[in-house]
Amino acid sequence: MIDVSDGVFRLTTRTTSLWFRVTAHGHLEEVHYGVRLPLDQDPQALAIKRTAEIGSSIAYDEADPFYCLDNIPLEWSGTGCGDYRRSPIEVVGADGIRATDFRYRGHRLTPGAAESETLPGARAGQSEASKTAGTDGTRETSAPDRRGDATAPEDETADEAVQTLVVELVDEAARLELALEYIVFPATDVIARRTRLTNRGEQPVSIRRLDSMMMDLPDRAFRLLTLHGGWIKETHLEDRPLSYGLAVNSSTTGASSNRNNPGFLLAEGRADETRGRVFGFNLVYSGNHAGTVERSPHDLVRVTLGVNPEGFDWRLAPGETFETPQAVMTFAADGLGGVSRHFHDFVNRHIVRGDWRGRARPVVYNNWEATFFDFTAGKLLKLARQAKQLGAELFVMDDGWFGRRDSDRAGLGDYSVNRRKFPDGLPRFADQIRGLGLDFGIWMEPEMVNQDSDLYRAHPDWAITTPGRQARLGRHQLVLDLTRPEVRDHIVDQVSHIIDTTGASYVKWDFNRNLTDLYSPGLAGRPGPGLDDPGPAASRQGEFAHRYILGLYDLLRRIFGPRPQVLLESCASGGNRFDLGMLCFSPQIWSSDDTDPVERLAIQGGLSLLYPPSAMGAHVSEAPHQQTLRDTPLTTRFNVAAFGCLGYELDLKLLSRVERAEIREQIAFYKAHRMTLQYGRHHRTDRDTGAKANKVVWTMVAQDGSEAVTGLFQTLTQASEGFDRLPVDGLDPQTRYHIATRPQSLFVHRFGGLVKHILPVTLNPDGRIMTTVDHQYRLTDCVEEYDAYGAALADGIALANQFMGSNYNEHTRLLGDFGSSLYLTTRVGEKN
Ligand code: DGJ
Repeated sequence: MIDVSDGVFRLTTRTTSLWFRVTAHGHLEEVHYGVRLPLDQDPQALAIKRTAEIGSSIAYDEADPFYCLDNIPLEWSGTGCGDYRRSPIEVVGADGIRATDFRYRGHRLTPGAAESETLPGARAGQSEASKTAGTDGTRETSAPDRRGDATAPEDETADEAVQTLVVELVDEAARLELALEYIVFPATDVIARRTRLTNRGEQPVSIRRLDSMMMDLPDRAFRLLTLHGGWIKETHLEDRPLSYGLAVNSSTTGASSNRNNPGFLLAEGRADETRGRVFGFNLVYSGNHAGTVERSPHDLVRVTLGVNPEGFDWRLAPGETFETPQAVMTFAADGLGGVSRHFHDFVNRHIVRGDWRGRARPVVYNNWEATFFDFTAGKLLKLARQAKQLGAELFVMDDGWFGRRDSDRAGLGDYSVNRRKFPDGLPRFADQIRGLGLDFGIWMEPEMVNQDSDLYRAHPDWAITTPGRQARLGRHQLVLDLTRPEVRDHIVDQVSHIIDTTGASYVKWDFNRNLTDLYSPGLAGRPGPGLDDPGPAASRQGEFAHRYILGLYDLLRRIFGPRPQVLLESCASGGNRFDLGMLCFSPQIWSSDDTDPVERLAIQGGLSLLYPPSAMGAHVSEAPHQQTLRDTPLTTRFNVAAFGCLGYELDLKLLSRVERAEIREQIAFYKAHRMTLQYGRHHRTDRDTGAKANKVVWTMVAQDGSEAVTGLFQTLTQASEGFDRLPVDGLDPQTRYHIATRPQSLFVHRFGGLVKHILPVTLNPDGRIMTTVDHQYRLTDCVEEYDAYGAALADGIALANQFMGSNYNEHTRLLGDFGSSLYLTTRVGEKN
């Protein structure tokens, strides 16, 4: 709900309020962002007071000496008028002037979510509100009942309750207009923001920086939480106190990057998973981004988020408008978990679109780690047959099926089937897969080219290179210039043809190197419309990185828009492009090439701050693991992958009989509870809220509250470990539930040399007899069952002892290093 009256903008969601107002000088002053307020709350009680001149400040107007922009919490700021904090905008006019000062001119309110022509963004939903109905372009809307309290109007959780507010600002001297767009998604507590800059002058201007959003919050001893990493170690949580000065969370790789994910949180000093005020920010963008947080000398905290200004220079001709990607923000008073759940609901409801929105994701078998490039149709069919027997639903043929792609040195760009590997062609192979009862999925890396490829030999100029310089290779490949329409047309034709001729219902779209050598002949000295400036100064190379991403979105829109039935899984050497922009096209993203479950606890745990499990590709692979050599139980590999979109990616012919049995049971359990695991309400239980330091606890609660799945993961075991409790968060305290361990296999080899103490003969634990026993017989790990109210479950169920070196029996939980269990909680009674 958006109320605009008395010069105050009141944006209300289910549990939050964002208020700002127009000052006497026409700037937008932040009044409140946080808990939901009654509409008749006096804004004056919340607004920062200006009753003294603060030393070193610059008065905006000599007649109003207390009005200094540097000390006002603002919704937008310019440059050169006394606000010394980071400006969200830098525009250089034809005269070289950089000052900007935007002031209020008017606003518009419309139902539904405004959409961009070129950039993806959040949508109102399936029953999207009509973009025209009720749109009257009025400046002032009728005020709702202002006696109002904090109770929600009945329809406020409906998609129709989504509204867009556009606040129009103008800088008369610079002849620039700026539109600040706010889309309020009441049900999910998210506000999306974007800016549009229009040049109303007669000369082109150069945009060096234009953020999607800016806001100033009063400091609350904030901590800044960001997701950092690299290849095979993506999205590790970094949690640090916010000190004075500027903190930057950015990417320059051409991708949203595995180094610094675009999303971040600000948590008040003592906030934890369940308590405290937390603000969350993210960007619907897949390229270079920059988020900044700056604590001012007077403890205002400025947040900006948008396209990274580094290397950015966009030439805006007279009459043209530049629009930024969308930023999204949320607030929760119930800790990090609250913010995460807002973002999860938002992604599932307003970001993901097409036939896979809200739909159960299939269990995948992917051949990559089983075969790498070394396969034939026959070999894949054998794997597919085994995968089907285990319960997989979709067979994904990964890299290596086309051109001369027998290694990563050749073939990228040539998407015609390799006849040596597939003598009967691809459509026939896809039919054979479907004949086994599996859906068919296929891997491609359409943005890239190997120099050793027919495509490169025909069009060497399509690859990105800088004239006069040697092109830099990554994974032996170059990047195609997506700013060029003919390159995009070629890719659209190529990918569409493969999907249509094979009937693929899934595409894995990979991107295995970052951008370098940024240059496009198409952007060299190109005069813009109405521009009379063809010299070198007219070069648009500073637009390249952003135009690349616009080109990528154009591709994805043209290929997958008409094929909503295709499940797209974006991948970028794992999670190098895990962002809301890709999620607008790709309902799930391959989280990391690292499937070691212990590493995945950090990766998926970090991702879960901002993204729902329905977005995370998560596979079970071999142990010892191919990237870490860590040896982990098959059960834990599944238990972690179950908190995402489950897949298996290992050589199935190497599995023992008991491993097959275990996997069959894993998949059956997953299928029975996948709506909870993919779309439930996510709770992380951390050290501050009930989990031990060597434990990770995650719970997914079904949206209707009928069941919950909890994972208890032990990182390193402790000798004679103290009593364990299992906290299950997110249930109704007054309702009765039944909780039970998911029965899982206990493999004999986990007992090592201890087996010789219970056998009449001495056997080598690594010898042939014991290996045979391990492959043929399994024990079941300890199963516990209890009835309990939600209140008791939240407090923590007391679990049986772990193995302590003696007295092993069927009540002993055998976790050891990297052990884990899943617990299923089901509602058995009505609310008390
Ligand atoms: C990188 C991906 O992350 C892997 O899963 C696999 O698809 C390879 N590329 C194939 O080249």
